[in-house]
Amino acid sequence: MMFNEAAGKEDVVHLSIGQPDFDTPAPVIEAMVQALHEGKTRYALDSGVPEFREAIGGYYERTQGIQVHPEEVLVTDGAVEAITLTLQAFISPGDEVILLEPAFVVYAPFIQMIGGVPVSVVTRVEDGYIPDPGEVEAAVTPRTRMILVNSPCNPTGSTYPVQVLRELAAVARRHGLLLGSDEVYEQLVYDQEGNYPSMLTLEPDRDRLFVFHSLSKTYAMTGIRVGWVVTGHSNWRLLQKLHTFTTTVANTPGQWAGIEALTGDQSFISPMVSEYRERRNLALDLLQDIPHLSSYTPGGAFYIFPRYDLDLDADTFCLRLLEEARVCCIPGTGFGDSCRRAFRISYAVGPDTIREGLRRIRQWLTRF
Ligand SMILES: Cc1ncc(COP(=O)(O)O)c(C=O)c1O
Repeated sequence: MMFNEAAGKEDVVHLSIGQPDFDTPAPVIEAMVQALHEGKTRYALDSGVPEFREAIGGYYERTQGIQVHPEEVLVTDGAVEAITLTLQAFISPGDEVILLEPAFVVYAPFIQMIGGVPVSVVTRVEDGYIPDPGEVEAAVTPRTRMILVNSPCNPTGSTYPVQVLRELAAVARRHGLLLGSDEVYEQLVYDQEGNYPSMLTLEPDRDRLFVFHSLSKTYAMTGIRVGWVVTGHSNWRLLQKLHTFTTTVANTPGQWAGIEALTGDQSFISPMVSEYRERRNLALDLLQDIPHLSSYTPGGAFYIFPRYDLDLDADTFCLRLLEEARVCCIPGTGFGDSCRRAFRISYAVGPDTIREGLRRIRQWLTRF
């Protein structure tokens, strides 16, 4: 049965949104408008506006205390382009890429599209979806080429302890593997003192490391499409060629906005992170003791990924949740085979929406 969204639209509570509900900071918008007025509307250098690449280096120096040279930074059309370029450039048909499941929806299908083999190491709700590096090492075969890590994670929000990140890097190093680290939620971390470490601080060999990041989440700029990859310069040259022959160049005025984002006033970040933390705590409180659900405490991003014990696949579960309770969540299906009894809740919405959505979910699940 198809859900008639138009008929009940005003009554649907959306807990499905995968992007910030905060506004893009006003100075960032002003910088972009100014860039447009100044005629910065043409192709930039294919590797990125030099001042923006400098600003990305400055960002890592300020937040992580490490040096990143502009020659190690390629500016892309969001983090997704950074990830897919890297996979296209370095994964050959038959190569295995280890993913930690549940995994962001882009990874496995894209690896398959280019003839690679995604190999999932499943993480469990009872462990807060934190991986066991020993299980990751056990999944390494002679065909393994890369381990792809995403912490804080979409869809679980799980934020790996530093020691786990360190051990994952060590597994990659011991086996001479490439290591990809998707860090788009790096600043949205709730239980950690100080800055959450980038893999750049844990793995010194940038010839094996690819760090993916973007302006999308911290600066609420998902539609502007500006991201980057940091890697050793020899990898960079290959990525730059592929980028030139496919995308050509990332959004030029968006990169000028990015300079303001990374070098301008950062004082909005801390209250924004506090608000996400409060929303997470509210959602976790309201999830407690809802029948049929198992939850955990996610440490970052803006997602919770509960499991349920009903005999319903995730697509049916979410469709019925939408039709019968008028709450829209994302079924686990797209995040891996182990996620057929799970769904994603996003708290990138205000507290009233969280309260009403979870009230409805509780009421609905109580009927089973
Ligand atoms: C884990 C993860 N990586 C990458 C992206 C895409 O980021 P961008 O907008 O920079 O392409 C998302 C967006 O939801 C994400 O959740």
